[in-house]
Amino acid sequence: MITALDHIAVAVPDLEKAIKRFAEDFGLEFSGTEDVEAAKTSTAFFPLPPTSIELVHPLNGAGPIAKFLEKRPGGLHHLCFRSDDIDADVARLKGLGYEFLADEPAPGAHGSRVIFIHPRSCDGVLVEINQPGPDGHG
Ligand code: CO
Repeated sequence: MITALDHIAVAVPDLEKAIKRFAEDFGLEFSGTEDVEAAKTSTAFFPLPPTSIELVHPLNGAGPIAKFLEKRPGGLHHLCFRSDDIDADVARLKGLGYEFLADEPAPGAHGSRVIFIHPRSCDGVLVEINQPGPDGHG
């Protein structure tokens, strides 16, 4: 079951500059960066309960965020719903005809499991579903 809007992700070409904007100019709490090898993405999180802002940046210049930034200067990248049973939600949505970018959930930030629904199944919006890891964060 989907239980929350876990985060909204913004793709940024300059991670340090964007972290400074969100932390200093906007004054949001900054909880740190994490490289997610499985997604070839560097992330930075700003908790804003009950949700978070996630900055996403290409890890080592490659991967899906690099492709995204080849076509745009940056921008809204995805929104993420939190699930309390990601396998059940994926099975249910597959049954309804939703296309996913992977066959099954992969490791995400903070020990979570994540999977993305193809934007063509969601009116052009990339939707992530995550199930928080043992530390309780998405
Ligand atoms: Co995300």
